[in-house]
Amino acid sequence: MDRIRITGGEPLNGTIPVSGAKNAALPLMIASLLTEETLELHNVPRLADVALLLRILGNHGVDHAIAGKRPGQTAETGQSIRLKAGSIIDTVAPYELVSRMRASFWVVGPLVARMGEARVSLPGGCAIGTRPVDLLLMVLERFGATVDIDAGYVLVRAPRGLKGAEISFPKVTVGGTHTALMASVLAEGTTVIDNAACEPEVADLAQCLIKMGARITGAGTSQIVVEGVARLGGTEHTVLPDRIETGTYAMAVAMTGGDVLLEGAQPHLLQSALDVLTQAGVEIAVSNAGIRVKRNGAGISPVDVTTEPFPGFPTDLQAQLMALMSRAKGTTRIRETIFENRFMHVQELARLGARIRLDGDVAYVDGVERLKGAPVMATDLRASVSLVIAALAAEGDTMVNRVYHLDRGFEALESKLARCGARIERISG
Ligand code: UD1
Repeated sequence: MDRIRITGGEPLNGTIPVSGAKNAALPLMIASLLTEETLELHNVPRLADVALLLRILGNHGVDHAIAGKRPGQTAETGQSIRLKAGSIIDTVAPYELVSRMRASFWVVGPLVARMGEARVSLPGGCAIGTRPVDLLLMVLERFGATVDIDAGYVLVRAPRGLKGAEISFPKVTVGGTHTALMASVLAEGTTVIDNAACEPEVADLAQCLIKMGARITGAGTSQIVVEGVARLGGTEHTVLPDRIETGTYAMAVAMTGGDVLLEGAQPHLLQSALDVLTQAGVEIAVSNAGIRVKRNGAGISPVDVTTEPFPGFPTDLQAQLMALMSRAKGTTRIRETIFENRFMHVQELARLGARIRLDGDVAYVDGVERLKGAPVMATDLRASVSLVIAALAAEGDTMVNRVYHLDRGFEALESKLARCGARIERISG
């Protein structure tokens, strides 16, 4: 299993290109199930989760082709993938595949919408809390499907097609909103989705569906209205930049000091996180080229942050913020409201010398002067990268184990950091 060795203490200076968003690319790829025509996606990040989803979609009968490099493109230019679900050959999504990536459960919506049935494995446990799918199943029932659970699988049937419905989510759910969108576009009649997730990745999916012929208004707000259509066609779509990757590197620069342009980053996708960094004393400058993050000399000021659905501070940046605040001049309070049990990184950050106290859903981080390198490992994607951030500022060597979590969500992490001066290397095997 690969490991990453980081020797801390170097400031970051230079340019980091921002990749396409994993959390947008995955539902966009799944949307290819909704049409027999070709969906061509550009700026798709090269990630383990993308490769796994291609396998899962292939199992349902989706052919794919990855375009070769064009002149001027580099190893970091996102890839273009053509997906064609000419015919769906299998409506079963097996346990072996779904259990490795929760988002693959989202195939359930398009499969039922197009084929009238789906048999999808329940995703099972996860390192960051229970993460149920009850609201996704509620959505399908509201559309008139029957839902049965059998031997760890969800069997969803709607032999006479789905009917538009009024859906009001009791809590904001990204996956629930994606499912409602992808099921409603081919449902008969009107669907109104209230308390919808406003995340930019939902709006990106909706924009692509509109290009495919769907009739959707309000995506990106808390009320989305969909008029069902009989069929969708193919289109081309460019995946939006990854706001979590952007915020992660912004925090890395804040941690080490230095001056980095996050090329292609779009500030409106992560304004709440940029505001928190400004409060912490980091300089943020926005231009057409992206977001420039700078910290020279001044220390890091503590902050008080609560994770919230978009446009609030994202839960997917909580672990990274905690790493940064481990060296702040004072005590930071971080409240996690989206996922229970999303403090798994605390124990590992402590191994590097961070001082963090937990009280229910609140973490208090007492900033320390120095962190010290140590072997660490993490149980999820965002937690792993928080250890990388801490290691970049720790004295001596840190060995980050279980790197496959990073490969799931961060494209070319080592080369992006190394080109800005970080001492970071992957050790294979
Ligand atoms: C997506 C993101 C993930 C991010 C999360 C919150 C992808 C691939 N993943 O995950 O990176 O951290 O949004 O921004 O885009 N819930 C239920 N019942 C359900 C569904 C969800 O109770 O049926 C709860 C969850 O346990 C959680 C909350 O709703 O407490 C929000 O989860 P949700 O927005 O659905 O997260 P995901 O879509 O799984």
